[in-house]
Amino acid sequence: TGFITLDSGFMNTASCTSDITYLDGKKGILNYRGYPIEELAANCSFTEVAYLILHGELPTFEALEAFKHDMRRFALLHEDMIHFFDHFPPNASPMSILSTTVNSLHNYYPEMDEDDDPYGGYTVTAARLLSKTRTIAAFSYKKSIGHPLVYPSPRLNYCENFLNMMFDRPNLPYKIQPEIVSALNKLLILHADHEQNCSTSTVRLVGSSGANLYASISAGVSALWGPLHGGANQAVIEMLENIYADDKDFEKYIEKAKDKNDTFRLTGFGHRVYKTFDPRAKIIKQACDDIFEKLELHDPLLDIAKELEERVSSDDYFLERNLYPNVDFYSGIIYRAMGIPTDMFPVMFALGRLPGWIAQWTEMKEDRDRIGRPRQIYTGEIKREFVPMKDR
Ligand code: CMC
Repeated sequence: TGFITLDSGFMNTASCTSDITYLDGKKGILNYRGYPIEELAANCSFTEVAYLILHGELPTFEALEAFKHDMRRFALLHEDMIHFFDHFPPNASPMSILSTTVNSLHNYYPEMDEDDDPYGGYTVTAARLLSKTRTIAAFSYKKSIGHPLVYPSPRLNYCENFLNMMFDRPNLPYKIQPEIVSALNKLLILHADHEQNCSTSTVRLVGSSGANLYASISAGVSALWGPLHGGANQAVIEMLENIYADDKDFEKYIEKAKDKNDTFRLTGFGHRVYKTFDPRAKIIKQACDDIFEKLELHDPLLDIAKELEERVSSDDYFLERNLYPNVDFYSGIIYRAMGIPTDMFPVMFALGRLPGWIAQWTEMKEDRDRIGRPRQIYTGEIKREFVPMKDR
């Protein structure tokens, strides 16, 4: 009833109220539950930040230990689920495997009664989902390269466990490097929530119909997959590789991105909400320099990225439109340094974003949000005479 306003892309429409993430796109501020990401990334573990996002408070030592204990006890997948991985084609996209497998978790772990949860909310379910998704991600990689699976270890922390499941081999034990663990921890923290972005809105919208958490998160993974959203970290690396292979012809790519008759964009630049440097990208760029220096690494793509950023930063087209590097611009270069394959970068984004998706889904439930049901402005014909088949 009343006026319906067109707001395609939801440029100016709030779909909910939320206490989880504060974002000021003009000043480049991002706070989770009131805490600046800079401080969280410098001082916390990803598990601690996940707890903060889920509960609204930083955990006490005991609360964090209990949460970690749950993560450890839920880390295994039901053995039957392992057969899933055998039936994807060898080159299957890790995002499609993730979305499918997360969806099916509901069949194996249907119990998620809020009242049965000793800590309140959906803490136990959240720990289960966070822990199992990490195992799914690593198993999908091992299966894709035909290596034996490495099971989660109760002695390793969240990030160490992931890296070990990805890279340990019977004939070549993986040596956990603290610098890599610390960089991964930082990256996951910086992806942990970002208010009502495309995938989070999807999680809320699917959940608003009463669909279960796993189904809602699986839809979020699908939304994240696209190159304008979480798929951008993969697309950035592919773009940098192309520039490198193209004799570093930066201008060709910059001009193509500016051409309004061409759909090509410089991936890793621009953001719906930030009209300044993405605060996450600032930290990631620094983390990138730190890890390359500490581990004495070199990647020509880092040089390409820096030169591209420099050229773009003095180009009127990008300045006039406030197009600065976003979270996806430098993250892929760190994932590459860790040995993570390019097609798994969006999976890394999904692992980081899980606490946010779960917290937003829970908030939507607690606030008893209505079913999400946007309206439309109909532009077709109102009523036409039916034409029988013989007369068409
Ligand atoms: N390269 C060239 N031009 C661009 C770019 C870009 N990366 N991004 C935006 N523009 C132009 C766009 O063509 C438009 O120009 P004009 O006003 O002349 O028509 C203007 O800037 C505004 O762009 P928009 O498409 O209206 O902005 P939006 O808020 O709808 O889109 C975006 C935001 C992130 C999808 C877009 O900036 C983009 O496509 N960036 C590249 C993909 C990318 O890096 N995505 C990751 C986003 S951050 C993390 C995440 O959400 O996953």
